Parts: sequence; C-alpha cells; structure tokens
Amino acid sequence: MSKTEFRIGVMGSGAGSNFVAIAEACAAGQIPAKVALVLSDIADAGIIGRARERGIPVQYLAPGKFRTRLDEEAEAQYVVALRAAEVDLVVLAGFMRVLKAPFLGAFEGKIVNIHPSLLPSFPGLEAWKQALDYGVKVTGCTVHFVDAGVDSGAIIGQQTVPVLEHDTPQTLHQRIHLAEHELYPRCVAAIASGKLKLTGRRVAFGG
Ligand code: GRF
Repeated sequence: MSKTEFRIGVMGSGAGSNFVAIAEACAAGQIPAKVALVLSDIADAGIIGRARERGIPVQYLAPGKFRTRLDEEAEAQYVVALRAAEVDLVVLAGFMRVLKAPFLGAFEGKIVNIHPSLLPSFPGLEAWKQALDYGVKVTGCTVHFVDAGVDSGAIIGQQTVPVLEHDTPQTLHQRIHLAEHELYPRCVAAIASGKLKLTGRRVAFGG
C-alpha cells in the first residue's frame, strides 16, 4: 500500500448517499484520496450494499448494549478496524451514535461529520424538521470537526438551502441532502489536499 495516499474511513448507519458522493468524487479524482474502509453499526444498512457494489472494504461492527452510543468494547473494535486500515480521516456519514472520549482521542482532529442544518442552529435529530417548525426561511447543511459535544465542533463548510412555502419535512430534507452531496466532497477534498488550516475554532481553506 502506498503510504502517500490519503486514506478515508467512513462510518454510516443509513442509506449511504453521502458515502456514495464521496466515493465517486475520490474515483473521479476530485478528492485526492481513497475510501479505505466503511463501517456500519446497522447490519442491513444501505451503506453496506453500496460499499460492496463499489468493491470498497466494508464491515458491520455491532454497537453493543447502548442505543445512542457505542459501548466501550464496540468503540475499541471501531478504533482497531480504522487503525488497521491506516485511515487519515474518519468521515461520519449518517452515523447515528455519539462517539466518546477514547474514540475521539484515537483520531483527534481527524473526525468530520455532516449535519442537515446551518449550525449552530438546530443541532440534534431531524434538524430539517426543527428548521421547518421554527419557520426559518433559509437552512442548509454543515460539515464540521467532531468534538465531545453534539454537533458542536469547528465548522469547516456550510451550504444554504432556501425553505419554500409548500415544503414538507420530506421535500426540505431531500433538497438538503442534495446540498450535502456537493458540500461534503468539497470539504473532504480540502482536508485531503492539506489545504485546511484550523486556528482555534476558525477553519480557513488555504490556496
Ligand atoms: C444526512 O442527512 C446527514 O446530514 C445526517 O445523516 C444523513 C445521512 O444520509 N448526518 P446518507 O446515509 O448519507 O444518505
């Protein structure tokens, strides 16, 4: 394996459309990196089949006894698998469990997530529904570094999505998803090409 290539580990619990956007951008040379491993905590998650179709190594790793986070043993297994795949960046793409200190420490500053709102507005679940219920006219998506809080890490990039008069939670969520598929590969490309500079919470895209 070439040590110069930038290796990405993706973790997801759902359909895996963001994973597909990133894998395709890697394959097209838009992200100077390779998806080395996909991990899922859901045995029949769509992301697993989508990784297999693309010949990308994929593993289901049982999450353990908790509903909203990995238990200690599971967390250790995730760390072992990602380290064995020599990943340089962990990309959370719809991974529905909170990660705790040992995992965060193992990949400090190297974990990113995408959230379906313009953070810091509407952290947590069903952010598109929160935005609609609140009545904002503009929402969007945010790619951010992961820290110990919920959707609270330094912001890497954001893309806006207008809220339309006749939007339902579904239609708004669909358009946010499309924006995610543009934003996430762009942000991952900037990281993989070494262009991001993090000063405190401030992230700059260098040249
Ligand atoms: C996305 O809406 C993302 O913002 C959220 O989980 C969803 C994942 O969708 N974190 P997919 O599995 O990438 O299609």
